[in-house]
Amino acid sequence: MKSIFRHLPSMILIFASASAWAAPKESAMKPFLDRLISRMTVEEKAGQLTQYSADMAQTGASLKDNYKEDILKGRVGSIFNAYTPAFTRELQTLAVEKTRLKIPLIFGYDVIHGHRTIFPIPLGESASWDLGLIEESARIAAREASADGVHWTFAPMADVSRDPRWGRVSEGAGEDPWLGSRIAEARVRGFQGKDLSSTETVLACVKHFAAYGAPQGGRDYNVVDMSERELFETYMPPYEAAVKAGAMTVMTSFNEIGGVPSSANRDLLTDLLRGKWKFKGFVVADYTAVNELIPHGVAADEKSAVDLAFNAGLDMDMQGGLYSNHIVQLVKDGRIKVRDLDLAVRRVLEAKYRLGLFEDPYRYSDEERAKKSLLTPEHRAHARQIARKSAVLLKNDKNVLPLKKSGTIALIGPFADNKRDQIGNWSGAGDWKQAVSLEEGLQQASEGKVKLLKAKGANVTDDPRLIDFLNEHGGNLEIDSRSPQKLIDEALAVAKKADVIVMALGESQGMSGEAASRSRIRLPENQQELLKAIAKLGKPVVLVLFNGRPLALELETALAHSILETWFLGTEAGPAIAALLFGDENPSGKLPMSFPVNEGQIPVYYSMKNTGRPFDAKQKYTSKYLDVSNEALYPFGWGLSYTKFEISEPKLSTARIKLNQKLNVKVTVANVGDRDGEEVVQLYVRDLVSSVTRPLKQLRGYQKVFLKKGESKELSFELSAEDLKFYGKGMKWMAEAGEFQVMVGANSRDLRAASFHLVTTAR
Ligand code: BGC
Repeated sequence: MKSIFRHLPSMILIFASASAWAAPKESAMKPFLDRLISRMTVEEKAGQLTQYSADMAQTGASLKDNYKEDILKGRVGSIFNAYTPAFTRELQTLAVEKTRLKIPLIFGYDVIHGHRTIFPIPLGESASWDLGLIEESARIAAREASADGVHWTFAPMADVSRDPRWGRVSEGAGEDPWLGSRIAEARVRGFQGKDLSSTETVLACVKHFAAYGAPQGGRDYNVVDMSERELFETYMPPYEAAVKAGAMTVMTSFNEIGGVPSSANRDLLTDLLRGKWKFKGFVVADYTAVNELIPHGVAADEKSAVDLAFNAGLDMDMQGGLYSNHIVQLVKDGRIKVRDLDLAVRRVLEAKYRLGLFEDPYRYSDEERAKKSLLTPEHRAHARQIARKSAVLLKNDKNVLPLKKSGTIALIGPFADNKRDQIGNWSGAGDWKQAVSLEEGLQQASEGKVKLLKAKGANVTDDPRLIDFLNEHGGNLEIDSRSPQKLIDEALAVAKKADVIVMALGESQGMSGEAASRSRIRLPENQQELLKAIAKLGKPVVLVLFNGRPLALELETALAHSILETWFLGTEAGPAIAALLFGDENPSGKLPMSFPVNEGQIPVYYSMKNTGRPFDAKQKYTSKYLDVSNEALYPFGWGLSYTKFEISEPKLSTARIKLNQKLNVKVTVANVGDRDGEEVVQLYVRDLVSSVTRPLKQLRGYQKVFLKKGESKELSFELSAEDLKFYGKGMKWMAEAGEFQVMVGANSRDLRAASFHLVTTAR
């Protein structure tokens, strides 16, 4: 690896004290940055707080075509959407060879579920409930991204969401704050590793702070308004967990909360994040979020927007260019204090220092390493493994699955050979052409013993406006020239020849993700028509779903014998799904988010409260709908296996614990079916009487266990008062004495309970 000092004799003057480093030394950082900051003009400081998108990819309005000129003027500290060793080297050269202070750029990118090797979308990976594998995905993503010039990923997204209409549920970990926290921590550990100066790790960015997952009506970017208790109990925990796991950066959210847009919210960015949570890194705005303070209606003009955002504690302006244009004047006006400016600049420079960029700004732009590290067989093997673990078997009547490796299978639907969609949204630098489709997967896995017939059956959608939208934003959908009825007729002809029909239906990748909310979260109508026609044949029907959010599957549940939810499983989706369909692997995924019966129920989530009039079928005046149940169709934690598990009643070590004591919960899980398999044993708690109302159940632990057929195992869980705490009156974080229930089971609905008491010294 070359050092910048070799190229730049003039830099030796500036970095004299640093030239002897082997790796960046924490103790040398302060004097080094003191000296650097003392040499910077206010304009250069504003530059360090400015980030622009390069032209490789874009996720919003393009505001800056001449970003290279700004780099040359020392007015840019970070570039995003730039990768490959060659391109990052080219841009880095401008910064470190052509600017006065030669401060290296930091390159950010949305590495959301893999960089070149694409893993399941984050919601899908979350269905694996396998923290080790999730961490490994992030580690591999970091290894690939850092070999491709990237220093910083805009992940993990830690937004809890209970609204499947919101398209960005695909990027998160689902509806539960506890599971979401564990997953956010795992991702931070994977991205950042133990050593940021290693060229195999990248900075993580916790986003979107805060509560971006709760927009009214599920419409992206919309208003968020909720009680403080709900905000802190449901939405904040994953952000906090990720910050405590050491995430070095945080991104503000586009939304307001209770009238205050996040990018102008000092309580959030300074008092909570830096004050209470002791966050030491820097905060970046989401894409043009500073500019958006104007349409939000809290700033009259750009200068006031910068005043608000900067003084709220937002360090770096993404893409809008407003910090670059207005900080100098705001400092002159006395609205921004130089002390605060220096602090923000220092936070950004510290990140660069820790990444080792002052030592060698090109250390992540290494062609040789990129050649060896991208899309390797090992990375693909991991992609295949986590894809297998992420699929969820929703239904399996008459054990239609697994399929036999004999006879004739009809593979029908627009996702049978669709590679672009299977790698999902936000698939970074992933190339869908490298992916293995379901059809290819089935061919390989059937070892020539199965006759595979294929028909398209339907377009992904027949809505031309939606097709145009999807294709403008990364899709490659084509409308078939045959009429919808002709497509169905052809599919029927193929299906008639088969013993079993596998339907590959779903949403296109662009129907979830950013700016992709839907008010009806069903399969497109034309695909439903196809399914109805095929089901009439009376043959066994297996539905394989491709989608980025929970769907309302009432019709599909009535028509298909088996349903396998496969989200968008990534580069190795095809082989992973095929292994599950043929039973070479046993499904073990569990839903991280409830699937409603229909959209009118939303929000429907497992940790509902009882209300004063809980549902009672015999009473009119109880909390219910006249036309649909209160329950989700497939609840949180749901997922079947080809084998059968039995979970015993929980046995408690004691009936009473004190605040400082632990409760041990033992449960036996037995594989009583005829295959080996994995079960996720879930533990929930309920506080029966408390000073404020509490959810009927809250996840507080789980274990994923592999059991051979006939095998059983005793599992042991530990609970402490910490697991029973909540925000009481006056928003006091506390556990209250009284009776609690512990519930254990294979999903959030079918649980067995035991009771205990918490006794506090106060009573
Ligand atoms: C998204 C962020 C993303 C950013 C940069 C925004 O539109 O909300 O999640 O990191 O673009 O691409």
